[in-house]
Amino acid sequence: MKLWSGRFGKETDALVNELNASIDFDQRLYKEDITGSMAHAKMLGACGIISPADTEAIVEGLAGILADVEAGKVEFSADNEDIHMNVEALLTARIGEAGKRLHTARSRNDQVALDFRMYVRERIPELIGQLLELERVLCRQAKQYQTAVMPGYTHLQRAQPISFAQHLMAYAHMFIRDITRLEDCQKRMNECPLGSGALAGTTYPIDRFLTAQTLGFDGPMGNSLDGVSDRDYALELMSALSILMMHLSRFSEEVILWCSWEFKFIELDDAYATGSSIMPQKKNPDVAELVRGKTGRVYGDLMSLLTVMKGLPLAYNKDMQEDKEPVFDAIDTVELCLPVFAAMLDTMTVRTDNMRRAAGMGFINATDCADYLTKKGMPFRDAYTVTGKLVARCTAAGKTLEELSLDELRESSELFEADVYEALKLENCMALRGSYGGPAVAETGRQIASIEDFVEAHTK
Ligand code: ARG
Repeated sequence: MKLWSGRFGKETDALVNELNASIDFDQRLYKEDITGSMAHAKMLGACGIISPADTEAIVEGLAGILADVEAGKVEFSADNEDIHMNVEALLTARIGEAGKRLHTARSRNDQVALDFRMYVRERIPELIGQLLELERVLCRQAKQYQTAVMPGYTHLQRAQPISFAQHLMAYAHMFIRDITRLEDCQKRMNECPLGSGALAGTTYPIDRFLTAQTLGFDGPMGNSLDGVSDRDYALELMSALSILMMHLSRFSEEVILWCSWEFKFIELDDAYATGSSIMPQKKNPDVAELVRGKTGRVYGDLMSLLTVMKGLPLAYNKDMQEDKEPVFDAIDTVELCLPVFAAMLDTMTVRTDNMRRAAGMGFINATDCADYLTKKGMPFRDAYTVTGKLVARCTAAGKTLEELSLDELRESSELFEADVYEALKLENCMALRGSYGGPAVAETGRQIASIEDFVEAHTK
């Protein structure tokens, strides 16, 4: 029989039960549900709403249920719909009368809002921990490749010389923002909805500040309707996770390109690559492809909850039961991807020879050639034109800029002198880009150190 069967004259249709029940997925919230109920019962006791004896019986009964769930001794039942009613039914079966007093001054609406919020809040540190580990891997790798010249690209066309360290540090900076986005969202969500009741608070003399404090919140949520209706925090988390996945997906795309024979800038460790069932030679970057693919899935999770929420009038609506699966899926997916991705980067072999070879073609020192003339007094726009013509001449002759003789160069401008060859050397082109944030060794060194400081400060 249903907890709420009082006003009903019939059994619920079996298909309605199937549609309505959420225990299959919300049983994940058992711990938050039980902890929340313990805090609620203690508060009811402290405020004289239930007796000390009932309070004790409830808290002990709940502790027993928690232990039994963790020991795998509890079977939840779909007849009890969701985790909240399952726990309450178990409690009443165990302790009798007192169990029926637990739900005083509470609704499942503020209960689920509390449980879900605590669940989400408690999973954020794991996500941050995994991102910090990824940062450590990036710093370790970057330190080895500060002088490894590779072409930097725009439009996927070779553009200017950078180091592999500079490229890795670009992602390291994105992941720092991902971490701080998660921290922001964690801070903002730390208000307690418990005590909002069904939507309109309660006539009992409850102490919302006490439950908020017991459960580690900064305070109670300020409005009871908002308390039961808000799912912003879940959306904010999934937005942060979507942006994080977008970063991982761009990185994955590059890993896939770099593994191709066309680039061969890196080779993945055999443990982080897969083969083909028909082509014996294949070694595929499936990890990166799956991370790129799973990005779509996390975006879908975000879209699904945004869509569920967009038309809902205040306050609680059952549609909101659809909030949990996408959030669980988004968190699980990101937590599956991050450590594998970090390990894949940690174990890759970097082919600096191929990077250097690629950097040698494509005129990525053309800007430096124009800058050379500019520094000798020619206006930059003229220097740009002169260099462009030299590039055209080289392209026709199948040469690089530095393969032109000084006489050939001087046909374009008298400003060219013997020191131009030093200026065109890729290693110098990169080393001299010492502007703040640039690829010069001192600058990548500063970047790596700043990421390491951040990681250190965030490692407890
Ligand atoms: N299982 C429900 C959920 O996840 C709990 C809240 C039910 N409240 C209600 N009034 N039916 O949203």
